[in-house]
Amino acid sequence: MANELRFDGRVAIVTGAGQGLGRSHALLLASRGAKVVVNDLGGSSTGGGKSSEAADKVVAEIKAAGGEAVANYDSVEEGAKIVQAALDHFKRVDIVINNAGILRDTSFHKMSEQDWELIYRVHLLGAFRVTHAAWPHMREAGYGRVLFTSSAAGIYGNFGQANYSMAKLGLVGFARTLAAEGSKKNILVNVIAPIAGSRLTETILPKEVTEALKPEYVSPLVAVLAHESCQENGGLFEVGGGFMAKLRWQRTEGVSFKLGRNVTPDLVQGSWQRITDFEKATYPEDVTSAMQPVMDNLGSKSRGGNELIDVDAAL
Ligand code: NAI
Repeated sequence: MANELRFDGRVAIVTGAGQGLGRSHALLLASRGAKVVVNDLGGSSTGGGKSSEAADKVVAEIKAAGGEAVANYDSVEEGAKIVQAALDHFKRVDIVINNAGILRDTSFHKMSEQDWELIYRVHLLGAFRVTHAAWPHMREAGYGRVLFTSSAAGIYGNFGQANYSMAKLGLVGFARTLAAEGSKKNILVNVIAPIAGSRLTETILPKEVTEALKPEYVSPLVAVLAHESCQENGGLFEVGGGFMAKLRWQRTEGVSFKLGRNVTPDLVQGSWQRITDFEKATYPEDVTSAMQPVMDNLGSKSRGGNELIDVDAAL
C-alpha cells in the first residue's frame, strides 16, 4: 500500500515483547520499518525467574521476516539498561511502548505487601525507569512517542486486583502529566487499556474467548499512536477484539454552596440528587478546567446553569 504508516528510521523499545501483546506490537512496528529493541525478562506471569528465550524468539521472527531487532533481557526495573541497548545498537530512541507486566491477583484481605510492592515495581516503577531514561534523548531530538499500558481493572476496579488496579490507574495520571510536559518537544504520550488473549488472561477467560481476542487486534492502534502523524496526546483508549474507543472523565454539574455560610452534612445530604446527577455533565480536560467552578465560587460568581445554593435559604 502506497500510503501505509511506516516507521523507517525510527527506533522503538517495546518492553515485555517476548510474547502476548508486546510481541505483537514489536512484530507490527518491525514489519513497517522500525528498528526494535525487544525487551523481555522472560520470567513467569507472577514475576518469578528469568530467561532469554522469549525475547530471542521474537527477534528471530522479526529477522526472518526481513526486519531489524535486538533482544534485551533486563527487567524494566532496570530501565536505563534497556534504553542504553537502544542507543548502543541503533543510536537513538523514538518510541517507547511500556507494556511489560505481571499479575499477583488475590483478594485484598489476603494480599501481602510483597504482592503490592512487586506489582508497583514492574508496572509503575518499571515504566518510570524506562521512560525517564529515554526522556532526555527524546527532548534532545525534539521527538518522541510514548505509550503506557493500563487496564480496565485500573479504570473500573476489579475483584482480586487491588495492587494491579493501583498501578494501572497510576499509569494514567503519570501519562497525562508527561503529555503536558512533553508536548512542547513533540513528545506525545498516550495510554491503552487493552484486552487480549495471553497467559495473563488464559486462566480468567474461557479458552474460545482468549483465542478470539488476538493481540493483533490491539497493535494497530498502538502503531497509530506511535506514529509521527499522531496528534493525539494524553489520550486513554480501550482496545481489543476489534473494538477501539477513547475515554474521558465526566463530572456532574454539581452544586456550589455560597461561601461564608455553615455548610452542614445535612445540607450536603439534602443536595445529593444534584451532586450526583449526570444530566448536565461536563468533561474537564485539565486541572484548570476542573478548578473552574471552585474559582467561580470563590469569586461568588454564579456560573451559567448552576446557581449558587444559599445555605440559609436551603435549610
Ligand atoms: P504476557 O504475560 O503475555 O506478556 C507480558 C510480558 O512481559 C512477558 O513476556 C513477561 O516476561 C514480560 N515481563 C514481565 N515482567 C517483566 C519485567 N520486569 N521486565 C521485562 N519484561 C517483563 O501478558 P500480556 O497480556 O501480553 O500483557 C501485556 C501488558 O498488557 C501488561 O502490562 C498487562 O498488564 C497489560 N494488560 C493485558 C490485558 C490482557 O487482556 N491481556 C488486559 C489489560 C492490561
